[in-house]
Amino acid sequence: MSTPIDTVATLPELAAIAHDCTRCSLAEGRTNVVFGSGSENADVMIVGEGPGRQEDEQGVPFVGRSGKLLESLLAEIDLQRDDVYIANVVKCRPPGNRDPRPDEIDACKGYLRRQMQLIDPAVVVTLGNFSTKLMLRTETGITAMRGRAYAWWGRYLVPTFHPAAALRGGVRVTDDIRADLALVRSLIDGRISVALSEPVHETPESKQSEPDETQLGLFGPTP
Ligand code: URA
Repeated sequence: MSTPIDTVATLPELAAIAHDCTRCSLAEGRTNVVFGSGSENADVMIVGEGPGRQEDEQGVPFVGRSGKLLESLLAEIDLQRDDVYIANVVKCRPPGNRDPRPDEIDACKGYLRRQMQLIDPAVVVTLGNFSTKLMLRTETGITAMRGRAYAWWGRYLVPTFHPAAALRGGVRVTDDIRADLALVRSLIDGRISVALSEPVHETPESKQSEPDETQLGLFGPTP
């Protein structure tokens, strides 16, 4: 069944559809849909996992402690929050901050896919396991995946730890995020040759040419 999500022409229209969404049971417990925020013309799109309590209350992604850390790490590469676009794999808060379930991710992924198509960033940064596994279609964990850029549907994808892991894991995790964001800076500055001299791993489904839109079923078909 075709849905408006796949063809909707603008982010505000997509957000309006998301705000009424009842595709999964997370709709029942939410205060607000946390659709995403930032620049619609961003070169960098950041994808987290799902809203926490503060995000649910405010309807804005990454406004809690993880968000503060993310903002300060972005500032180190001279990016302000409004320079990038920030979204999550699931747009509604899982109760008690539990992990999003596969059926919830499946129900929500069409929104993320369309956000990606409309924003068309040069670099995607995935924070943590959920967004990295979904978008790179891998079962490999973030510790092994991070530290490099992946060519991904005509753009680059840089996986890194979730800032919540840095809040728990301390300086080493924070330094790893810093290193990954330095790579993001190199990519958006066009210092690609520096980045490419070290492993830029090409995933089997990735290519440098225009992405085949049907293949943006990369996250699987829209339910
Ligand atoms: N963690 C996330 O993954 N997303 C948010 O929006 C907040 C915390």
